[in-house]
Amino acid sequence: MTSSSGSVPTTAGDDDLADLADAVRAGLLSSSSSSGGGHKWLPPRLFYDDEGSRLFEAITELPEYYLTRTERGLLQAHADDIVGLAKGDAQALQLVELGAGTATKTQILLEAVVRLQGSCVFMPIDVSGGALDVARARLAREAPAVLVRPVVGRHDEAAAAVAALGPRRLVCFIGSSLGNFDDDENISLLRLVAGSLTPGDCLLLGADRKKDPARVLPAYDDAAGVTARFNKNMLVRLNRELGADFNVDAFAHRAVWNEGDSRVEMHLVSTMAQQVRFGAIDAVASFAVGESIHTESSVKYDDVRIDHIVRAAGLVREQTFIDDDGLFGLHLCRLVVAV
Ligand code: AVI
Repeated sequence: MTSSSGSVPTTAGDDDLADLADAVRAGLLSSSSSSGGGHKWLPPRLFYDDEGSRLFEAITELPEYYLTRTERGLLQAHADDIVGLAKGDAQALQLVELGAGTATKTQILLEAVVRLQGSCVFMPIDVSGGALDVARARLAREAPAVLVRPVVGRHDEAAAAVAALGPRRLVCFIGSSLGNFDDDENISLLRLVAGSLTPGDCLLLGADRKKDPARVLPAYDDAAGVTARFNKNMLVRLNRELGADFNVDAFAHRAVWNEGDSRVEMHLVSTMAQQVRFGAIDAVASFAVGESIHTESSVKYDDVRIDHIVRAAGLVREQTFIDDDGLFGLHLCRLVVAV
């Protein structure tokens, strides 16, 4: 990985620092993000340092956060159907997972593949080698017929490994991870994935569905305040890693529904006029009272929007599995013609 940052060193181990510096320059310091002008923002990938990853795991267990347990229920109910449809009349099905993390939900699919064909090659892809180690160790214990071939890297860096795996592949992009990207970003990613596949190969897309905002908002503003800590942890991280002096208590966590874009947005709202200094890049950002930093969007999809994304990537949605309450969708898509 390289960085476009000029003043932050980019030797081994400094890539994260350069990425943080670039993000702060673009989202908090550029003219389009200054007070009175555009809006301030930070990219959601900055959430996931060790503490952020731990807090996200805690979020997935919250009563208000229906996404994870609903998707898990769908996988438990339909894993055999999904892998059967994906395999079709091919000799063997192999699984790939984008952003696999510790692959706990995917284990449900892997066990279904093992039931169907006795063993399964699994290529989990993630930027966190530590999470992949955890996945590999657990699968070795609990699902020894799964042959794990982990790839540490970004999705775009992993396309060659996916191509080399050979057909028939089922690529999983679950957890509504696509919701944290805009449609064009998702189309680019899925086109890249589709370009490494052979006709007949499948994509399983897990996506949160559009619903009453009164159901969505508490999932992003829980009573125990875990999501607020997750959001503010981004400032804690900038203090530690970029020598910033954010007063974390002077920013409030906000989750707001944006109907036009069908998404919940997370913001950190400055409760006072204040300046924040970034020691590592010798820069200062000013915040007015009530000015917000937009830290994440989480899109909620209807089938029309899913179809728009998958078709633009060259795939066809074949079947959709939805829970009884209509909260979450698992979309099985197939590459019909090579892209
Ligand atoms: C990782 N991603 C799908 C989560 C979501 O629901 O958008 C991240 C998250 N943000 C707040 N809570 C959970």
